[in-house]
Amino acid sequence: MKNNNIITIDGPSASGKGSLAKALAKELDFILLDSGLLYRAYSYCFEQTQTHSAAKDLFSDLRVESVNHEMHVFENNQDITSILRHENIAKSASQLSSLQETRDNLMSFQRDLASDHGLVADGRDMGTVVFPDAGTKIFLVADAEVRAQRRFYELQNAGQGVNMRDLIEDIRLRDEADKARKISPLKPADDSIEVNSSNLTPQEVLEIVLKIYKENTKEV
Ligand code: DC
Repeated sequence: MKNNNIITIDGPSASGKGSLAKALAKELDFILLDSGLLYRAYSYCFEQTQTHSAAKDLFSDLRVESVNHEMHVFENNQDITSILRHENIAKSASQLSSLQETRDNLMSFQRDLASDHGLVADGRDMGTVVFPDAGTKIFLVADAEVRAQRRFYELQNAGQGVNMRDLIEDIRLRDEADKARKISPLKPADDSIEVNSSNLTPQEVLEIVLKIYKENTKEV
């Protein structure tokens, strides 16, 4: 049975998943699961502990909260979300995410967010592994140059100095690693719909996906 309370958005870095997921959550008043942020938080914990069991304990001490339809992570009441957005954390999250222990340690947290309230889940394996019964599955893609440009502006706006050439290379390497890993690789679910956001505004992408969702949930 398909669960119409769940929309999954998977795809490579900077394809526009984050903006789309946030806009959808706002529009439908659904909860947002930013699974990449959880992988980043886990890797932040792992860096301090160097073992999975201790990282899991430290992770469970973090507070994850929805603020304006965005996921935020707090450590001792301090919002560490912007720290988790740094490129160095993205790199270690990508490496750690290839390990079964990491994925196992985050699975129940992700699944527990599903409820009657509705969930928009953004990541790499949302439609394939975490929520295979989701009623609407989107695989969002965009050309590599467009994605690098978007990430460049994102990081620049967040005050992080970045070099465009390094960024393109980092994104390329991370995508390759995410696609090639044995466990939960980045790939479209068989029943997902691909949307290419390269030449679309965020509003246009939102409208396309809302239309797909409404079509899927239409009473017959
Ligand atoms: O979406 P992001 O850039 O915040 O994700 C950070 C890393 O976490 C990314 O390189 C791959 C990993 N990740 C994953 O393996 N599975 C997910 N569902 C989400 C993210």
